[in-house]
Amino acid sequence: MSAERRLFVLNGPNLNLLGRREPDIYGTATLADVEQLCRTEAETAGLELVFRQSNAEHALLEWIHEAFEGAAGIIINPAAFTHGSHALYDALKICTCPIIEVHLSNPHARSEAWRATSLISPVVTGIITGLGVEGYRLAIRAIARRTPARTAAAAEAA
Ligand code: DQA
Repeated sequence: MSAERRLFVLNGPNLNLLGRREPDIYGTATLADVEQLCRTEAETAGLELVFRQSNAEHALLEWIHEAFEGAAGIIINPAAFTHGSHALYDALKICTCPIIEVHLSNPHARSEAWRATSLISPVVTGIITGLGVEGYRLAIRAIARRTPARTAAAAEAA
């Protein structure tokens, strides 16, 4: 599939522990469940899913640079890096594809005041928070709607 149909779903620190990590806040779905949900939705939309998670900021940066070279869109849950990474802001700022920031919880409704600030929000297309794993599904639909439909000829060539 062409780079233009690649959809990057990037997940930040501690999200590898989804399902076991504060389930009262983040729910009981695991990261593998989220990946499966994304895979099904991306397939329906005719997009090629690139689904990744890292606890390291530099890995997320490398993947955003990959998307910068060509992608249908980026869906990113930077987890705690949301609130502290200027490097993620700079990397996302140069990407021309649609970018959706997703959070499972609603950081604005949480007790820690620092969660209310997202450094990346000014450079994303849209934000989905507080809807749990459903947020990923909605984000994929939003990216799909912003991606030109694949022609029969392009589908054949891919
Ligand atoms: C989160 C919210 C962040 O504040 C937190 O640091 C996370 C997860 C979410 O998905 O709700 O790790 O991004």
